[in-house]
Amino acid sequence: MPESSVPNDPSLMEKIVNLSKRRGFVFPSAEIYGGFRSTYDYGPIGVQLLRNVKDAWWRAMVQMRDDVVGIDAAILSPPAIWEASGHLENFTDPLVDCRQCRERFREDQLVDPTTCPNCGGTGTFTEARQFNLMFKTHAGPVESDAAVAYLRPETAQGMFVNFSNVLQTSRKKPPFGIAQIGKSFRNEITPRNFIFRSREFEQMEMEYFIHPDADWLACHEEWLRWCQDWLQSIGLPASHLSLHEHPKEKLAFYSRRTVDIMFRYPFGVQELWGIAARSDYDLKQHQQHSGVPQVYFDEATKQKVVPHVIEPAVGVDRILLAILCAGYAEEDVTDDKGNVEKRTVLRLSPRIAPVKVAVLPLLKNKEALVARARELHAKLKRNYAVFYDEGGAIGRRYRRQDEIGTPWCVTIDFETIEKDGTFTLRERDSMQQRRLTEAELFQLLAEQVY
Ligand code: GAP
Repeated sequence: MPESSVPNDPSLMEKIVNLSKRRGFVFPSAEIYGGFRSTYDYGPIGVQLLRNVKDAWWRAMVQMRDDVVGIDAAILSPPAIWEASGHLENFTDPLVDCRQCRERFREDQLVDPTTCPNCGGTGTFTEARQFNLMFKTHAGPVESDAAVAYLRPETAQGMFVNFSNVLQTSRKKPPFGIAQIGKSFRNEITPRNFIFRSREFEQMEMEYFIHPDADWLACHEEWLRWCQDWLQSIGLPASHLSLHEHPKEKLAFYSRRTVDIMFRYPFGVQELWGIAARSDYDLKQHQQHSGVPQVYFDEATKQKVVPHVIEPAVGVDRILLAILCAGYAEEDVTDDKGNVEKRTVLRLSPRIAPVKVAVLPLLKNKEALVARARELHAKLKRNYAVFYDEGGAIGRRYRRQDEIGTPWCVTIDFETIEKDGTFTLRERDSMQQRRLTEAELFQLLAEQVY
């Protein structure tokens, strides 16, 4: 995958937000009512990209591994889970208000803790107070304390509270993992940078359970490697990735080691994927609070043990944003008549591209061309996400596909009908064209889209 042609371009985010809206990747939520800050809706193209990312992760993490199984746990959850996990007490950010302009900030994100970045006031901040990030609601018609419920702030606890269920039903024993993809909710004080930090987002997490005496550091390293390899397998360039080791004093309350895979976004190098060693903290907490043993029987020592955990936890929306940032490019192209024009192209890996092939009859008023194009489209769509487009000049149709990252366009032209049945295949990145047969097209797709 080539590097983005515009790395660290400060205007890149604006371009990506515009492209997202224009081409149906991401829309601001509740836009007709003025928008609802920090929530986003995925459009027809965006949802397909999101789905492809999740499918690629699930395939690699669950389907291709014999030691990981999946679950899908509830989002609504009782306070007991969050009391045991420590989130009710510890899942907080330090909140300060500026007394002068009334703007709110996370104290730990202020570059200068005495000067307000909004109004420039100095010494205008209130004392920091701890603000819990969990969304609280009530289950049922009565808004009493007994009815309090929470929207989960991480998917991870779903794996911990189901550890025994999965152990009994899956015939797995540590080392093994439980994976989940699903929505999480955090009442972030400063949601920002488009879909990078929002209040409703999706996570892909896996809890890998190991024997307490196992080499947890080696296991942690292995998962760190696995996550980096997987990111590259979906087309994120290694040049945009780096690692950040959390210093001991800044570790989350449950972690004994955390390393983040960082991504070079246009607004800076930021956390993409956290790989944490959670020890036996969570299972021990749930064992203590529920009174239900969270153990497995270790055949080697003939003992019941509480396993330790290595956890790779990533946000799907952050991956999607990284894909858009790394893939976005603007280029000057010269047409047949020597005119130079700009084209915007998303260089996405064929594995995750929302549309794999666009099928285009050269002219829409030539019945034979349209009929053949429709026939090919019908065949392709059984196995692949394909797009049929007969409207407008062929060059404009190519550009539209470039902008949503479609790797190939197939044009049905007169040679197809009158000569040998071959199509024109136009390749997105090189823009080169060549002729190929239907069998060759299916062969190409089988090799590149999996
Ligand atoms: N179970 C551990 C856990 O949730 P985390 O570092 O708080 O750890 C894991 O979150 C990942 O979830 C992050 O690395 C990030 O990719 C994503 N994430 C966290 N908060 C997010 C937010 N407000 N918006 C979008 N993604 C978020």
